[in-house]
Amino acid sequence: MTIDELMTQGPVIPVLTFDQPREAVRVAEALVEGGLTVLEVTLRTPTALDCLAAVAKVPGAIAGAGTVLNPAQLEASVRAGARFLVSPGLTKSLANAARGAGLPFLPGVATATDIMRALDQGFTRFKFFPAVAAGGLPALKALCAPFTMARFCPTGGISSATAPEWLSFRSVACVGGSWLYAGEGDPTDAIIARARTAAALRPA
Ligand code: 3PG
Repeated sequence: MTIDELMTQGPVIPVLTFDQPREAVRVAEALVEGGLTVLEVTLRTPTALDCLAAVAKVPGAIAGAGTVLNPAQLEASVRAGARFLVSPGLTKSLANAARGAGLPFLPGVATATDIMRALDQGFTRFKFFPAVAAGGLPALKALCAPFTMARFCPTGGISSATAPEWLSFRSVACVGGSWLYAGEGDPTDAIIARARTAAALRPA
C-alpha cells in the first residue's frame, strides 16, 4: 500500500491508546464495523506492542503504530504487524529506518522548517501535529502556499465537530484523532456509531 492509498482509505484515522489487547480487539472490531479501517495504535503504554499485534489480526483492520520516536520502536512495530507508521516529528535516523522498512510513514511536522527537512528526506505526506495548538487550519493553509506538493493528516485537538472543516481543505487527505474511543468501558455501540459518523465524512 502506498502512503496515498493509506491516507485515502477513509477520512479519519482513529488514534488509539490501549492497555489491554482484549480491549484493543473489541475497539478495533467496533471501528471496522463502523467503517473505519485504518487504525493507529500509539506506543504510549507498556503493552502497546501487544495491543498493536492484536489489532493487526482483526479482520478488515489496517493496523499501524503511532508515537514512533526512534528506529528501535519502528522495528518493533513492524515485527508486531504494523502496516504503517506515524511519528509526531522526524529525525534522520527515523527517516532512514522508515525508508528501510518500506511501509507508509507519516512524519509529524508543524513548521516550514520541519516540512523542508522532511522534504529533504524524501517525504511529502505528513501528520500536521499538534494541529490545533500549532495554529489550526489557518496555519496549515498558510504553510501549504509554499508547499503545494505536500498533503496532510492533521492530528491533535481535532473533534467530530471540527473534522469536516479540516477535510474541506484540499491539502488535507484525512484527519487523525482520539475522539472515536473514550477509553476502557466505552460502550461498543457508541464506538460503532462514532465510527459511522466519521466514516461518512468526505474530504474535498
Ligand atoms: C496524537 O496522539 O496523534 C494526538 O495527540 C491525538 O490528538 P487528540 O487526542 O487531540 O485527537
